[in-house]
Amino acid sequence: MQKLIVQGGTRLRGKVTISGSKNSSLPILAATLLTKDECVIHRVPDLSDTNYMLQILRELGAEVERASGTMNIKAEKIVPDTPYDLVVKMRASICVMGPLTGRLRKAVVSLPGGCVIGDRPVDLHLKGLEYLGAKVQVDGGNIHIEAVEPLKGCTMNLTSKYGSTVLGTDNVMMAAVLTKGTTIIEGAAAEPEVEDLANFLIKMGAKIEGAGTTRIVIEGVEELHGAEHTVIPDRIEAGTFLVAGAICGDGVMVRNVIPAHLKTTIELLQSSGYDVTSTKDTVTIMQGTSPKGFHLTTRPYPGFPTDMQAQFCALACTIPGLSSIKETIFQNRFMHVSELKRMGANIELDGDTARITGVPMLSGAPVMASDLRASAALVLAAINAKGTTKIDRLYHIDRGYEHLDDKLSSLGAITERIKE
Ligand code: EPU
Repeated sequence: MQKLIVQGGTRLRGKVTISGSKNSSLPILAATLLTKDECVIHRVPDLSDTNYMLQILRELGAEVERASGTMNIKAEKIVPDTPYDLVVKMRASICVMGPLTGRLRKAVVSLPGGCVIGDRPVDLHLKGLEYLGAKVQVDGGNIHIEAVEPLKGCTMNLTSKYGSTVLGTDNVMMAAVLTKGTTIIEGAAAEPEVEDLANFLIKMGAKIEGAGTTRIVIEGVEELHGAEHTVIPDRIEAGTFLVAGAICGDGVMVRNVIPAHLKTTIELLQSSGYDVTSTKDTVTIMQGTSPKGFHLTTRPYPGFPTDMQAQFCALACTIPGLSSIKETIFQNRFMHVSELKRMGANIELDGDTARITGVPMLSGAPVMASDLRASAALVLAAINAKGTTKIDRLYHIDRGYEHLDDKLSSLGAITERIKE
């Protein structure tokens, strides 16, 4: 198993180019199943999650060609059965369910299990497809979806007690584009990744209004055609590098970003005492002169992203004073806390809230990555810490950050991958 060795105490400086968004790429790749024509998707990051999605598309019958970040996908003839082995490897594979239902009126996808950050049910995905008229049955660990009658547009609300659902909104939108009549999704996820998917679907001939807001209106069409699309920059990768700049930087610029997508991250860094400036497609963070503690609560977009919570937790460990972090999206997204404590962090966890008192210096330790963003938080803390940190279960990072260690090294971090 691969581990990352980080030699702490270095300062980061320079420019880093941000990759295409993982969470946009996954549903957009799935959406290519909606047409027999060829689609061309640019700036797909090279990650284990995107590679799993491409394997799933191949197993479903699509021809996939890859040249660097550009994917040519032609799903002329496809089958509705999604391979169990691949689906269990990646929860986001659930997003082939919408396109398969839309195009074939049939889908078989294994039920994704819980995951380390919480229970993560898919009830809203299924409810949404049922509203459109599909019959849903869970049998032998598989979700079977079938529409004997043609699907029909309707109005539905897709909110859970934790707020909107990103992949649930994606799934219903992808089924509804080929569903007769008008579908209105109230309580839709407004995340930029949902809007990016809608923009791709519109290029394919779909009629969608309101994506990027909490009310999406879809007018079904007979069929979709091939299209070419470039995935938006990864706002979470960009945010992670900005927090790295805050924790241990002397001037870090993220390039190829959409600053508007980073608004809450930028504002929180600024209110914590960091000098953050933006241009049309870059954001730069300078060393904080007198950083101070902050209080954040995770919320669906445009609120503060749960996917940035762990990285800010690492930051809070390194700045003077008291900070608090309240996680409202996932029940169990504090796996990084115990590992940060091993590095000397002062964190008190009380249900959905972490209270963090900054310490003068973290110290390197052997730690365990538990999920994607928790792992990133450990890497950032390790660069700041005194001594060496060994991060186990590196595969979590490779799921969602394209060449994270190489990019950090180019800014001055000292990292090494080892196999043990
Ligand atoms: N929820 C339900 N029922 C459902 C669906 C969701 O109760 O049917 C609940 C979830 O349990 C959670 C909340 O609604 O409490 C939000 O979950 P959501 O469905 O929005 O999450 P997701 O679509 O499965 C995506 C991202 C996650 C990101 C969340 C929230 C992808 C591939 N994944 O997941 O990204 O944290 O939205 O923004 O887009 C990550 O990149 O590290 C990551 C976990």
